[in-house]
Amino acid sequence: MAIERTLSIIKPDATNRNLTGKINAKFEEAGLRIIAQKRIQLTPAQAGVFYAVHKERPFYGELCEFMASAPVVVQVLEGESAIAKNREVMGATNPADAAPGTIRAEFAESVGENSVHGSDAPETAAAEIAYFFSGLELVG
Ligand code: CMP
Repeated sequence: MAIERTLSIIKPDATNRNLTGKINAKFEEAGLRIIAQKRIQLTPAQAGVFYAVHKERPFYGELCEFMASAPVVVQVLEGESAIAKNREVMGATNPADAAPGTIRAEFAESVGENSVHGSDAPETAAAEIAYFFSGLELVG
């Protein structure tokens, strides 16, 4: 198994409820190392570029407004099979389908306000990390 890096976002519904520490504890308990992290306020346009792959979806406008509605915490997680492991720790996109103990089962409010985002493949992880971080900010 390879050591990978993946992009994670703690979303506005979670930062609003002061859940950053509890969510980070889930990552660390799963063996993921937070090698970069910052709290930022996105504009709807910046969120729109990040989620451009979804721009034809009916929820795109709502998603961009939501991601710009409060600060987010963007972070890079590193570890063995970090992309798949992070998706396991997050749980299914819709919290109604998320396995017990996962972040979305415990904290998410709805499919739209689902507390966390994680990259879905190595190519998207590399592009998503580069959208928010320079190489100098990744301290593994
Ligand atoms: P995320 O993993 O960040 O990737 C795309 C996001 O779109 C997803 O999590 C959800 O928050 C959001 N999303 C997916 N389906 C819907 C939906 N039916 N309604 C609103 N938002 C959605």
